[in-house]
Amino acid sequence: MKKTLLFGLTTLALLANNEELYKNCAGCHGEHGEIAALGQSKIITGQDINLTIKQLTAYKDGELNKYGLGNIMQLQLSTLNKEEIEILATYIKNMKKMKNLPPEESLTQ
Ligand code: HEC
Repeated sequence: MKKTLLFGLTTLALLANNEELYKNCAGCHGEHGEIAALGQSKIITGQDINLTIKQLTAYKDGELNKYGLGNIMQLQLSTLNKEEIEILATYIKNMKKMKNLPPEESLTQ
């Protein structure tokens, strides 16, 4: 019971913090994940949650190095735990919707 409550509170605190977490990534990947980091990575916005979790975990473990810059990502992940990685992955998935681009409807107006 106590454990559940503690977990709930931690989750809440982290959810409130998801934007804060992503701020560390925005410098390279763009505020909305719309930039190819250092001109190399894929555009990550809206990317599948499970794919992101897999990639971030692999970067953290030093097992992913797609363009020879994996050590840069390993450094980014070094202080993040599993839960924070999941929160980031969810944030990245939903980021596209938050993107402040002209809505499609505006084109027909
Ligand atoms: C200093 C710049 C920098 C920062 C900050 C950074 N990244 Fe990256 N990111 C990169 C580079 C460079 C790559 C490509 C690495 C490689 O060679 O595999 C990459 C790759 C990725 C990929 C895989 C993209 C693909 O090409 O498939 C994801 C997902 C990702 N980063 C998420 C994040 C997240 C989440 C954070 C914040 C915790 C973050 N990055 C912070 C530079 C950065």
